[in-house]
Amino acid sequence: MSLLGHGVVGYSLYLRSFADTNGNGEGDLRGVIDHLDHLRGLGVGLVWIAPFYPSPMVDGGYDVIDHCGVDARFGTLDDVDELLDSAHSLGMAVVVDLIANHTSNQHPWFIAARASRSNPWHDHYVWADPSDDGGPPNNWVSYFGGPAWTYEPSVGQYYLHLFHAEQPDLNWRHAEVRREYERILRFWLDRGVDGFRVDVAQGLVKDEHLRSNPQTRSLDPGDDRIRQWQAFEHDRDILQPETRDIFRRWKQICDEYGAILIGEVSVDDPERFARLLGDGGLDLGLWLEPMHVPWSAHELRRVLGAPVQLTTNHNSIGWQVSSLDEPRAVSRFGGGERGRRRALALSTLMAFLPGVPFIYQGDELGLEQGRIDPGDRVDRVGGEPSAGRDGCRTPMPWNTGPMAGFTGGSQMWLPFSADAPSRSVASQTGQTASSLERHRSLLAARRHHCPDPNTAVEWLDDLMPSLLGFRRGELTVIVNMADEPTTIALSGKIVFDSQGSAGPDVLTTSDTDVNLVHLSEAQAVVVRSWRSSHSGPAGYE
Ligand code: BGC
Repeated sequence: MSLLGHGVVGYSLYLRSFADTNGNGEGDLRGVIDHLDHLRGLGVGLVWIAPFYPSPMVDGGYDVIDHCGVDARFGTLDDVDELLDSAHSLGMAVVVDLIANHTSNQHPWFIAARASRSNPWHDHYVWADPSDDGGPPNNWVSYFGGPAWTYEPSVGQYYLHLFHAEQPDLNWRHAEVRREYERILRFWLDRGVDGFRVDVAQGLVKDEHLRSNPQTRSLDPGDDRIRQWQAFEHDRDILQPETRDIFRRWKQICDEYGAILIGEVSVDDPERFARLLGDGGLDLGLWLEPMHVPWSAHELRRVLGAPVQLTTNHNSIGWQVSSLDEPRAVSRFGGGERGRRRALALSTLMAFLPGVPFIYQGDELGLEQGRIDPGDRVDRVGGEPSAGRDGCRTPMPWNTGPMAGFTGGSQMWLPFSADAPSRSVASQTGQTASSLERHRSLLAARRHHCPDPNTAVEWLDDLMPSLLGFRRGELTVIVNMADEPTTIALSGKIVFDSQGSAGPDVLTTSDTDVNLVHLSEAQAVVVRSWRSSHSGPAGYE
């Protein structure tokens, strides 16, 4: 699949916070067109743009009322066309979000569906009669906390919503729903999009009989949404085998256009993750677990290693250190310079594993999670101001001018993160030690040195416990996970050094000599062996 070809890098673009051109304080499509050079300069080959469809914005645009339109706050269909042309002329592909698990409750389909049981649209959604005690029909819970069912008095039934009550789940066992989505796919493919990021790819089809999930531990009313979700085995509400049939059909359609299907596969079990990939389904699955573990060699080794071992098509894993839904990596890993060093080290590991790394907007600047005052909060999901989803969605700082170049207006939908003014694109450009320049170098190293997708990963598990690394063909990638410096013997040429201080780039002139390389805390190096063949030990002693 050429769009996911050798060394390609993805960029996850959070439209509302990227760049505002009409002064309304929210990013828009023209803002993307104006800043495509930033993405090109980073070395991005594939841009995934967060939803721009008409939406009441209860869930940041993931509550859609028209899948074939553009919300006026973001621009017009003509802007989409121009964006596609501009990106293509720069050699970048564009993937749009496909939100298929649910719609907005303001979508005309749901307005009709809730009008009466006899309405032809009623069965496009998942409805069920109350249980004997009048409560919800089963024990399913929402990803956002609380029961996944809301009672609708006008029809005397509950409807299902795996997210907010304003996001009713579609009934994917209904042939007409499938036909509608095929039409939506073709609408965007005909306009020239290069593929889709399928939201909640593990969802879609539900158990035919809507049976309860096995419960593995009791629920405490004070449990947060994640603990509530984790109290069940999700055998019936998600991951039904029929979901793959849908992806196979979508894949056939995408193939007619040379387009790709990327799935957001939100499961913590690597075997379940691998199950949704390949075999005519998704081209690539976004694996989210690395965003859920602390800075620990053991934990990172586990979440990086498992999907690689289990997926048969090795290019099919999408890696992210941060996302629009998770606290930014810099802050997760301790914040400040230490957090930035760690986040870049994790990006380095991901850049040379099989698969495609996605930079989440602002991570290239080393942005921290924004702390949003309760009065300024927009997202209804999340906990503490720093941990909620607003904190990772703060606007991009472009320069040192007014409003950091994000908007010509005087207001923004969310405030900047505290570190934004000092971390703009303009202020980091040309500063070799900056996050931006280091990301540019990392991605350039990936483009030049990324091994063939089928090159096996050999984890260097016999290294010191404080080191994490692997060898792939001629490359060795090593991170010092300890809080203090360490020394390791390496031979070859350093093709990327996350802190620029490991030593001379050329370590030796042959594989028989080694150099002692000093690695500071959270320093990552990528070393290319002098050997031209893949046989024998290479890169470290
Ligand atoms: C998106 C979230 C959204 C959820 C429901 C996720 O995959 O990334 O932002 O809230 O889907 O659509």
